Amino acid sequence: MSADLLVVSGLAAGYDRADVLHGVSLAVGPGEFVCVIGANTAGKSTLLRTISRLVPRSSGAIAFDGHDLMRLPAHRVPALGIAHVPEGRHVFFDMSVEDNLLTGAFSRRQDPEIPARMEEIFALFPRLRERRAQRAGSMSGGEQQMVAVGRALMLKPRLLMLDEPSHGLAPMVVEELHAALVKIHAGGTAILLVEQNTQLALSVATRGIVLESGRVALEGSAAALREDPRVREAYLGL
Ligand SMILES: Nc1ncnc2c1ncn2[C@@H]1O[C@H](COP(=O)(O)OP(=O)(O)OP(=O)(O)O)[C@@H](O)[C@H]1O
Ligand SMILES: [Mg+2]
Repeated sequence: MSADLLVVSGLAAGYDRADVLHGVSLAVGPGEFVCVIGANTAGKSTLLRTISRLVPRSSGAIAFDGHDLMRLPAHRVPALGIAHVPEGRHVFFDMSVEDNLLTGAFSRRQDPEIPARMEEIFALFPRLRERRAQRAGSMSGGEQQMVAVGRALMLKPRLLMLDEPSHGLAPMVVEELHAALVKIHAGGTAILLVEQNTQLALSVATRGIVLESGRVALEGSAAALREDPRVREAYLGL
């Protein structure tokens, strides 16, 4: 059995019988921080959605911690330890920050760990502590993204998947968010980060995967990819 946490093999998947992913293979080890980079429509979001069982696959396999994900319906995926922060900032506008976080723990409402878990999230994002009673819809885009990430962490995932969390945010907020991701990783959580901002992604992740038209075009350590002439030209504009 593989020592990897997530193993995607030969994955083909897409919409309305037209595949977007064409034989994608990748692995994420326990506690590893991997980024997926690639241009618009490369299939990055589709990859995360397929792992979350939201998009049907036409062939290939996905295993998580030795479990065959394809045998599970989407609603069983989070309990296995996979959290997915989708593209866009999906928070409940009319609910407080605290109630938004609690929705992340919906399946364990009686869990005595919840207060401690919330403390960890507030330590990671001190602004959320200050604004715990504030209506989420009245917060800035960056703060809403922190709520979305915090909510995903409520289930103490072993793999945190994030789809362009820094999209549309001011550079300072992006730095804050990425600093939090580095801390989450340091705490032992594996991260699969999808980013169009290649520079940023390769500065926080330890390994990178370049997706081009639904295929893995390149992969390697973040340091190696930053020096790769193809990455420099096509994705870093150097
Ligand atoms: N719900 C959907 N129904 C049909 N086609 C879709 C759907 N979502 C995405 N696609 C198509 O799948 C392809 C890959 O899209 P995807 O969103 O995975 O790319 P991406 O790499 O995440 O792009 P971006 O950087 O713009 O977020 C695109 O051609 C897109 O038009
Ligand atoms: Mg996308």
